Amino acid sequence: MKEKDNLKIKEDYLKKIKLLKKYDKYYYSNNNPLVDDSTYDKIKNYVLSLEKKYSFLKSNDSPSLSIGFKPSKNFKKVDHKVPMLSLGNAFNKEDLINFEKKILNFLNLKKNQKLDYSTEPKIDGISASLFYKKGVFTQGLSRGDGIQGEDITENLKTIKDIPQTLKGRDFPDEIDIRGEVFINNIDFEKLKNKFANPRNAASGSLRQKDPKETKKIPLNFIAYTFGYSKKLNISTQSEFLKKLKYWGFKTNKLNKVISGVENLIDNHRIIEEQRKEIEFDVDGLVYKVNDFNLQKRLGFAASAPRWAIAHKFSANKSVSEILKIEIQVGRTGALTPVAKIKPVNIGGVLVSNATLHNEDEINRKDIREGDTVTVERAGDVIPHVVSVDKKKRTKEAKKFIFPKLCPSCGSETIKEFNKITKKFDAVRRCRNDNFDCERISIEKIKHFVSKDAFNIDGLGKKIVESFWNLKLIRNSSDIFKLDYEKISKLDGWGKLSAANLEYSINLKKKISLDKFIYSLGIRHIGQENARLISKNLKHPDNFFNLSDKNHFVDLLNIDGIGDTQINSLKNFFSNKNSIVVLKELRKILKIIPEKQKSSSGILKDFTFMFTGKLEGISRAEAKSLIEKNSGKIISNVSKKLNFLVVGEKPTNRKVNEAKNLNIKIINQKELIAMINSKDDS
Ligand code: IVH
Repeated sequence: MKEKDNLKIKEDYLKKIKLLKKYDKYYYSNNNPLVDDSTYDKIKNYVLSLEKKYSFLKSNDSPSLSIGFKPSKNFKKVDHKVPMLSLGNAFNKEDLINFEKKILNFLNLKKNQKLDYSTEPKIDGISASLFYKKGVFTQGLSRGDGIQGEDITENLKTIKDIPQTLKGRDFPDEIDIRGEVFINNIDFEKLKNKFANPRNAASGSLRQKDPKETKKIPLNFIAYTFGYSKKLNISTQSEFLKKLKYWGFKTNKLNKVISGVENLIDNHRIIEEQRKEIEFDVDGLVYKVNDFNLQKRLGFAASAPRWAIAHKFSANKSVSEILKIEIQVGRTGALTPVAKIKPVNIGGVLVSNATLHNEDEINRKDIREGDTVTVERAGDVIPHVVSVDKKKRTKEAKKFIFPKLCPSCGSETIKEFNKITKKFDAVRRCRNDNFDCERISIEKIKHFVSKDAFNIDGLGKKIVESFWNLKLIRNSSDIFKLDYEKISKLDGWGKLSAANLEYSINLKKKISLDKFIYSLGIRHIGQENARLISKNLKHPDNFFNLSDKNHFVDLLNIDGIGDTQINSLKNFFSNKNSIVVLKELRKILKIIPEKQKSSSGILKDFTFMFTGKLEGISRAEAKSLIEKNSGKIISNVSKKLNFLVVGEKPTNRKVNEAKNLNIKIINQKELIAMINSKDDS
């Protein structure tokens, strides 16, 4: 009798574990949770209680063995006081020379001027922002999308390297200290079968719902910068790093100040050689102009500071064999060849696909199916084929013929001619963007729901594919008109999961203007450009009305938006089908206008234009100075212009036009005087 009971208990136990595994699969792989967190936790706790009660119960899949597995999505979202931006990348000397050249130009300094850089190892972890009020740690945020992070204070509090209170007395009243959360390689060894790499392990552990789970994995923190700060009396990055140490943070032992590109390269080589001995993953070096005054003058371009760059280490490589070359069609119609390779482990990640970039690349390297190739993987960049071992090529290997017709819709493809570079594009494209190329349409919808766009929980790529195949969706507006009754009856779905999907879709009917613009997937309008356009247009109506009276040209005033972007927007707005979808979306969605930032700058509401050469300051810096003080730059003389700033050898036509329109004409000195008159920053 007892044995029978035990069997029953065991059966129940294994059944519940199987159920949890199924829920895990839907949660992680399908991005489509079948049950809510509390239901999941109930079953999990039941399994754990059974294990406690009956010592004969054992399973390798027991939830008691899987710590740091289920990251929560339910953290409170909080705006960063100062955005957490990313860094531009440099891979070689040329990139560095360019980086320095741009800085010297912007600052109007001599070409041979030497600049000091704070040189710091770039730890491959997860960045976090720690807010200290009067020296006490009050709130910690993850990076999130850079604008808005997640409140992970309690989890961060479990990290021993993060001081609860700052040492000393000379810290600002308010400061957010930023740095990297990471795990040492030695500790990662123990977690190897749960996470692909140390970075994932750190991220997974940090985003546990229960901070006790975070505590189980030994996380470290190294500080390297700050975001917001109330009065900070420090003039260089190297001095700031010293202060961080004094306040009780760990900083990197390999930080140093170096001047000149040649010396940067030498140091890069030396550190790269030592890389294996560093206790944690470092994927490059970060160079920051050391002088805070210069940093302030340089400011930020679209997504990254002008004063810093990441100099990457060379990537991990492995040798494998190409099984097949597939042509994928992307949302912009680009035909991308992808090599399906025999799976190989590259730096801890199993790789089975490698991009071959484009048609030209295949021809240049003469890459064929069956070839033995070296594949490289750098950080979070898609793995790519570096070279072919032609000695290993068999006689049967045929030259790869790149298709001239779109593999999805069969229409002609072209290589565009770039008027600026006077060269044909390396990428071949399907031009059938009229919503009747199946692949383009599907990829557009995937982009629409993706993380940085509408970010719809439970609507991952696989589900988009399956809904497309079932003809439930044909364009992005269909997402908001789904038949949930029908969905609940589909294989793998039920009433609860359909209701969950409906809930998460409805949640996203309210969206910010920049995210909306980005989600449309217009070529050349990525996240940064979408943000710039949104900031400039402010109200969604201005976006919808862009094509009326050809408002496109006004966008040319935005630093970062040029002819390429404008032409792409024109193209989008002249496409009948995009207009239909756009109209639908306009009806369904509530698009939130850009927050009217209480821009309090002295030049608020004034517009400026330059003509002629300025003295001692570059045009770019003058522009950024005006924008920092809430002024606006426009690029032609019209009634909208308030001030024409005249430098050396101005264009007479512009000056005369301005005179005719009674526009105020000022010189550089007068402009600076205007800015300084009430500047209290
Ligand atoms: S400075 C705007 N310094 O690299 C300044 N970043 O792509 C940006 N990182 O998100 C940060 N070590 O996660 C800076 N010494 C260091 C760094 C570092 C690692 C990471 C950080 C950031 C990413 C930039």
